[in-house]
Amino acid sequence: MLLAPPGAKRQPPAPSAGETQRRSLPIFQARGPLLSQLRSLDRAILIGETGSGKTTQIPQYLYEAGIGRQGIIAVTQPRRVAAISLATRVSDEKKTELGKLVGYTVRFEDFTSDETRIKFLTDGMLLREAIGDPLLPNCVMKTHPMGGVLVMFDFSSLNAFP
Ligand SMILES: Nc1ncnc2c1ncn2[C@@H]1O[C@H](COP(=O)(O)OP(=O)(O)OP(=O)(O)O)[C@@H](O)[C@H]1O
Ligand SMILES: [Mg+2]
Repeated sequence: MLLAPPGAKRQPPAPSAGETQRRSLPIFQARGPLLSQLRSLDRAILIGETGSGKTTQIPQYLYEAGIGRQGIIAVTQPRRVAAISLATRVSDEKKTELGKLVGYTVRFEDFTSDETRIKFLTDGMLLREAIGDPLLPNCVMKTHPMGGVLVMFDFSSLNAFP
């Protein structure tokens, strides 16, 4: 057994390569202020450079901060290929199997489970779920101070100029 010399400080474990990559994204600098703003606001619009980490990181920040734990953090995408690719990426970053903590729902394909807490879905599927049940029971957080439904709408030029 290797014992540390007396008085030596315990070093926190070095971040993994994936964690280092996540921390290198521009949005990481804004993580703390962003979370405190999101706790106090009931809706927000975030604008950031492409590739800065909005879509892949914010759902993880919310989940890691315990926001949305009682429901599902739903992230909409205009295209099914984007929903699938982002879910795959985020589940890789979380080192979990796709369809467990992180999943996706697109037309004819539901890759989620009871464990899913971050779900990427197309705008169309969100609409379908809302029509099926306007209360969106999976997304409603009854006990969270933020209350209501936590959905991230990912707007882009595709939404603005279809
Ligand atoms: N499916 C993927 N496979 C590999 N890398 C990815 C994937 N999705 C995103 N990334 C990488 O992760 C980083 C953050 O991407 P993210 O999609 O979160 O940015 P964004 O701020 O949402 O950008 P945009 O405004 O273009 O939507 C980028 O460097 C991007 O290249
Ligand atoms: Mg994005």
